[in-house]
Amino acid sequence: DAKQLPKDFLHINDFDKDTIMKILNRAIEVKAMIKSGDRSFQPFKGKSMAMVFAKPSMRTRVSFETGFFLLGGHAVYLGPDDIQMGKREETRDVARVLSGYNDIIMARVFAHQDILDLAKYAPVPVINGLTDYNHPCQIMADALTMLEHVGRIENTKVVYVGDGNNIVHSWLLLAAVIPFHFVCACPKGFEPDAKTVEIARSGGSKIEITNDPKEAVKGADVVYTDVWASMGQKEEAEYRKKVFQGFMVDEALMEMAGPKAFLMHCLPAERGVEVTDGAIEAPNSIVFPQAENRMHAQNAIMLHVLGA
Ligand code: CP
Ligand code: NVA
Repeated sequence: DAKQLPKDFLHINDFDKDTIMKILNRAIEVKAMIKSGDRSFQPFKGKSMAMVFAKPSMRTRVSFETGFFLLGGHAVYLGPDDIQMGKREETRDVARVLSGYNDIIMARVFAHQDILDLAKYAPVPVINGLTDYNHPCQIMADALTMLEHVGRIENTKVVYVGDGNNIVHSWLLLAAVIPFHFVCACPKGFEPDAKTVEIARSGGSKIEITNDPKEAVKGADVVYTDVWASMGQKEEAEYRKKVFQGFMVDEALMEMAGPKAFLMHCLPAERGVEVTDGAIEAPNSIVFPQAENRMHAQNAIMLHVLGA
């Protein structure tokens, strides 16, 4: 059947399980090539990418720029002051102008509607590099990291401890596609979006939302956390530190999780706030291989949307 494939990469559940696994397997393949020093694979030769950032970034910016370069392409970084999307110029105008110069657009924005508008008006593929709602490239990198360290995604137990934010929404949307046990332990009032929880459950995954991190982590394959105050919420940081007491991932919580539990964090981390220094530096912490996998997962995402 002539099912319309999405030209963009905006939400993990825009794709079926076969496609997500195909992208992850491609990531493993291309990662091995890059790590071996082989630079003969240049599918993006002669191609350019515009990277639009309304927020700061280290991982997303460097992994996209370097990854696209390693596969032969050229990336243009546009920081918060350059385009001022929605302020200096309307998003639908930015979309069409950038598409005139570039083969692909990657964007990190505040309102999720901005990435939807970019994708709607850009004839070229648009990749979501984080919005206030979700962060699909991060969770693709996390899934790749789980394949490498846990051995699988299906039938694992992933326990997220902290704010029910954009990272949680992408975990839920992955759970809508691949069945696993996902638990979000968060303070009351900081739960993930209820509709997104419904979508995750509809995929056959076991989803639990709880306020008890100690009970939640038991038997976890992965304990995951993220900052308590996301970009755009930094003025709430002090208030959140009070409300989130008891949700810090420390060595004691990792101990309760059990011996097979890996620690993951999308980074940047605030050591001593949502996670302890000791937990991040422990042998079962895989936060740095996880960060490296941003590049490999995204290379495969770009190969997919560019049909290369
Ligand atoms: N994890 C992540 O997206 O990091 P950056 O904000 O540094 O891009
Ligand atoms: N939830 C965090 C993730 C950063 C990669 C934020 O949105 O700031």
